[in-house]
Amino acid sequence: MNRVVLITGAANGIGAAVARAFAEQGDDVVVTDVDATTAADVARDIRERGGSATAHSLDVASDAAWQALSDELRAAGRAPAVLVNNAFRNTVAPAHELAPADWQATVDVTLGGVYRSVRTFHDALTAARGAVVNVASVHALLAWPGHPAYAAAKGGIVALTRQLSVEYAPHVRVNAVLPGSIATRVWESVDETARAAALRQATLGRFGLPEEIASVVVFLAGAGASYVTGVALPVDGGQSTTVAT
Ligand SMILES: NC(=O)c1ccc[n+]([C@@H]2O[C@H](COP(=O)([O-])OP(=O)(O)OC[C@H]3O[C@@H](n4cnc5c(N)ncnc54)[C@H](O)[C@@H]3O)[C@@H](O)[C@H]2O)c1
Repeated sequence: MNRVVLITGAANGIGAAVARAFAEQGDDVVVTDVDATTAADVARDIRERGGSATAHSLDVASDAAWQALSDELRAAGRAPAVLVNNAFRNTVAPAHELAPADWQATVDVTLGGVYRSVRTFHDALTAARGAVVNVASVHALLAWPGHPAYAAAKGGIVALTRQLSVEYAPHVRVNAVLPGSIATRVWESVDETARAAALRQATLGRFGLPEEIASVVVFLAGAGASYVTGVALPVDGGQSTTVAT
């Protein structure tokens, strides 16, 4: 579609799949991540497949980093028409054992990144009649032990998505996806009991693939979703429809 699409946390997993999916439909992809080296690998791979992509270092919790990226993209005539807020942080611990710094960092990256994205680019989004897609989680709907800051931040993303969809209407659509259990590196450190429980909860009986989130993100950002705004769409293989077993 030839739009400039900026994705945060795009060096790995869902963010990288989202970057590839936009590039495959002809968009100009801005691959950002706090891990600039791996982001560069993703952008190079997209270019080698004929797509358009650049990689940029961006810690979504840093106001200065957002400003520097904004300056760089605007100077190149590449202010984004689409933002995908995907970066996150999580420290697993019950609330009483979670260090204040870990609480703060989780909220500041996971939820604060969404705020900083629109603070930085709302004018470009409005001018482009653009779209924002925020990657939340089923943790916004359901509670698992040990995720207080992450769940609060993801629930906050759903509320902020609704708020921003009103704030920037009618020119910018703002939606969220709520992934269930998606096969990325985050599951590599999860024990077998929890993995088995996640599998039982997904009525489709399997983990999702990053590409199955990416396709929905591309849809929500595109013309096919032109009358969709303010929604929080589970993409979870049915996980949020069942009771725990
Ligand atoms: N994998 C799942 O099962 C699952 C389920 C629900 C929601 N999600 C959400 O999907 C999104 C992507 O998760 P994933 O599984 O692909 O994880 P991942 O670890 O594969 O990718 C996350 C990326 O975010 C980057 N990142 C971390 N801190 C950052 C910061 N401060 N600034 C910029 N980038 C930063 C990491 O470097 C990494 O490249 C997250 O928002 C996550 O909460 C994932």
